[in-house]
Amino acid sequence: MAESMKGLHRSHRCTEITGSNIGETVTVMGWVQKSRNKGGIIFVDLRDRSGLLQIIFEESDIGTEGFLKAEKLKSEFVIAVAGKIEARSAANENLATGSIELRATQLRILSEAETPPFPIEENCKTKEELRLKYRYLDLRRPDLQKNLILRSKVATLTRQFLTQEGFLEIETPMLTKSTPEGARDYLVPSRIHPGSFYALPQSPQLFKQLLMCSGYDRYFQLARCFRDEDLRADRQPEFTQIDMELSFVDVDDVIEVNERLLKKLFKETIGVEVPLPIRRMTYAEAMDRFGSDKPDIRFGMELKNVSETVKNCGFSVFTNALEKGGSVRGINAEGQAEMPRKKIDALVEFARGFGAKGLAYLAVNSDGTYKSSFSKFMTEEELKALVGAMSGKPGDLLLFAADEDDIVFDVLGNLRLEIARNLDLLKKEEYKFLWVTEFPLLEYSKEEGRYTAKHHPFTMPMEEDMDLLDTDPGKVRAKAYDIVLNGTEIGGGSVRIFQNQVQERMFEVLGFSREDAYDRFGFLLNAFKYGVPPHAGLAYGLDRLVMLMAKEDSIRDVIAFPKVKDASCLMTKAPDEVEQKQLDELGIGVIAADRQ
Ligand code: AMO
Ligand code: AMP
Repeated sequence: MAESMKGLHRSHRCTEITGSNIGETVTVMGWVQKSRNKGGIIFVDLRDRSGLLQIIFEESDIGTEGFLKAEKLKSEFVIAVAGKIEARSAANENLATGSIELRATQLRILSEAETPPFPIEENCKTKEELRLKYRYLDLRRPDLQKNLILRSKVATLTRQFLTQEGFLEIETPMLTKSTPEGARDYLVPSRIHPGSFYALPQSPQLFKQLLMCSGYDRYFQLARCFRDEDLRADRQPEFTQIDMELSFVDVDDVIEVNERLLKKLFKETIGVEVPLPIRRMTYAEAMDRFGSDKPDIRFGMELKNVSETVKNCGFSVFTNALEKGGSVRGINAEGQAEMPRKKIDALVEFARGFGAKGLAYLAVNSDGTYKSSFSKFMTEEELKALVGAMSGKPGDLLLFAADEDDIVFDVLGNLRLEIARNLDLLKKEEYKFLWVTEFPLLEYSKEEGRYTAKHHPFTMPMEEDMDLLDTDPGKVRAKAYDIVLNGTEIGGGSVRIFQNQVQERMFEVLGFSREDAYDRFGFLLNAFKYGVPPHAGLAYGLDRLVMLMAKEDSIRDVIAFPKVKDASCLMTKAPDEVEQKQLDELGIGVIAADRQ
């Protein structure tokens, strides 16, 4: 039977006890990691969120009754133990508390436990599905505890830093109107207004802009955001942003305060020094050199445009692509000329996955001859010029894509990452930050037959491109910036439009009628009529940031209760059906549901 806590007070967490406590009496509480009965002496590893402590039970210390109780201990029992700290005769180097142990004089079993469905231990090999079903057990594992402790530290330091910098923490509503971040909304039906719906916020974007209009010139919030989009390893349907907005600032001001925030966070949590200023690169340069708007700059293997070199060559795959207005670009996998055919074929397949029609390769053998999928179509001079343009040396493997620019960038940008992964070039302990600036304001959606905002409709066009809004909207650059870490976009933001006429013009380009625009965002447009300061902001994906700090591959490993790929929670089984009565109250009828 479970015993009570009466009269007991925990004096320490397990690993708060050190050699300096030898001889002291302490009381610890936690879960039994492991119990070993050596006959006459029982060793128990006690676990709490700080780590493990070895406890020794002997009848001479704890009495017969206590010893009988200790014999019953099994993994995951919750116990309280009091006793004296002593030095261990044989120290365990692998344990923080390896040089000491607790000689028990008192034991209470606070709760018994069934055998858990998987072992509660570090680097557990159990399938994630089972772990997520029993997430409350999974969360006992040291790996996840470390991650959540790190996450809490990041949140605390962020609050500290931003508060010191004069930011106010202000909450914005969860039950609100649709916000335009480009994903699908999660809707919440209204009982009082049947047929009407709230939208859960995709971000606090509109509210933080309104707060600027209200004069709270520096705002931040650790904001929960909801986006109904396809999940990936770095995407969840609900996630947390470190969201901020500042008045009377331009791009450099936002970047400056955020660089200091990042420096503090990395130094004070994982001891990583972030050299400032962080490198900046325009979107155009990032695409041209890395084929990506979030380049991983931990390694080179940059894209080279060889269109000029091959424009008159005999290889029709190249010349056809150029005639259609595309480009031919390549990457140099240095030292990889010996890559076996099978691996090259796998790269070709990989490239096809990103829309490539093929991938042309050329290996420069050590004797200077070539092994290539297309050399028979080119003269010796043409090949030499191409290899030269790629700075190819004996031993290098050159890979080329010829197509529309978008495809070439996507293919080579991803191929470069794939090769780096295969060659183990991506070291998680190396942190390379990059600001990507001057994003295009708009992108053309073939599906919708119109321009959509690349970031969101409140992003300010660059002053020098303002006239292009009328003549060539696709060319307009925005005062938008992303912060990229090791090839992951950890945050993004922009300077906002604060002139009503520019905002209305923007809605026009996006194909909203004046009426539509006022219907959806009228409260913002109206607010702008009453005195609006120039403002700008940024939001980090907290989950992504912590994922990289914790060197995890999945965002799920830094979220206490995450959802899986189909946006469900394996533990609570949400989303779930509701009672007919609830639907009736909401005036909702379910007309089509794939209910198994
Ligand atoms: P954006 O849409 O770029 O900007 O989002 C900001 C950051 O949030 C993170 N993020 C996500 N993290 C996990 N799961 C998701 N589904 C997900 N979606 C986005 C990313 C991203 O960089 N209101 C603007 C910010 C601003 O302009 O101030 C916004 O939301 O790390
Ligand atoms: P083919 O003439 O189709 O046999 O192609 C010859 C070589 O060019 C093969 O190695 C193909 O993979 C490659 N290839 C085909 N299309 C492209 C393309 N669009 N870009 C780069 N290489 C290509």
